[in-house]
Amino acid sequence: ELGPYTHYMQKEIFEQPSAVANTLEMVFNAQSISPNLFGSEAEKVFFQTKSILILACGTSYHAGLVARYWLETVAGLPCNVEIASEYRYRNPIADPHTLVVGISQSGETADTLAALNYAKKLGHRYSLAICNVPESALIRQTDLRFLTRAGPEIGVASTKAFTTQLASLLLLTVTLAKMRHKLSAQDEQQMIMTLRHLPMALQHALQVEPQVRIWAESFAQKRHALFLGRGVHYPIAMEGALKLKEISYIHAEAYAAGELKHGPLALVDDEMPVVAIAPNDQLLGKLKSNLQEVHARGGELYVFADADSQIAQSENEHVIRLSEHAGLLSPILHTIPLQLLAYHVALVKGTDVDKPRNLAKAVTVE
Ligand code: F6R
Repeated sequence: ELGPYTHYMQKEIFEQPSAVANTLEMVFNAQSISPNLFGSEAEKVFFQTKSILILACGTSYHAGLVARYWLETVAGLPCNVEIASEYRYRNPIADPHTLVVGISQSGETADTLAALNYAKKLGHRYSLAICNVPESALIRQTDLRFLTRAGPEIGVASTKAFTTQLASLLLLTVTLAKMRHKLSAQDEQQMIMTLRHLPMALQHALQVEPQVRIWAESFAQKRHALFLGRGVHYPIAMEGALKLKEISYIHAEAYAAGELKHGPLALVDDEMPVVAIAPNDQLLGKLKSNLQEVHARGGELYVFADADSQIAQSENEHVIRLSEHAGLLSPILHTIPLQLLAYHVALVKGTDVDKPRNLAKAVTVE
């Protein structure tokens, strides 16, 4: 079943171009985007939607954090993103015009299911599931649904489920933007082209593997690591840190790069590798000055940049470049090298990649 691969995680990382292509297949075949992709009631619900509340755990929560930037920027919708296990024990104020979105690979995560139930009880009227398992509890309990078609994910560390969630959330964003008249017909066509480009762009991103493998050798000797990102790439830094912790047992923390000087900079010395997600977007200039702060304290930088990012390689600053800067798709593409880094560090360390200690694939207890 593994074919040419040694681990499920590795197989699932490399399946991402086809997993995303399957997930977006309906859009690739269509000339325009339709709310019906999210269920027969979606058009009615989306017309009433004035804001979004996303509930999820772990990696799925990180997908929600990315979606917030898209929903605000492209669809002009206010969006909150909450950890399901926190939301369900607060007293949040409900709004019937807020669409509650539950994101879950398994559709069986106890906290996510309970948080969605709680949101309904509080007075939120409609819910939407983004989920990878058609027959799951989550799919049964929501009004609207969109299935990620990642195929079964066996590795405990989520990879292709995450990128297919992101693809689905981008599609949701574009659909809502269209219904809210935020997109011209031309913009819509442009968005469809952008989505169509995603599988190929992922294929290109996977080509950094040999370079990442070299970094993994020195990384595997470390006990701690910091991950930095800004804007929509901050949640990607969080996801990269989670992957590394989970399967290589290296303590990793993600920070919004602008927060560095508010505390974590004290941790930086030559023993602390700092991974930076540095796409060529409007925040690159700001990020570079944050990286300068690390550099000045003798920290060793591992930077994932884009082909055209003005970032120079030096003795303590290693740079791997993705082949393009892909605009809205950038957080999806920048996920790939971080998954590969965690995977290769785990290989060097000899940990159980597909079944990390203490973890279960679906967390059905609270
Ligand atoms: C991390 C990971 C977990 C899950 C979390 C939620 O690699 O897999 O953090 O993302 O347990 O699971 P789902 O998405 O099934 O609700």
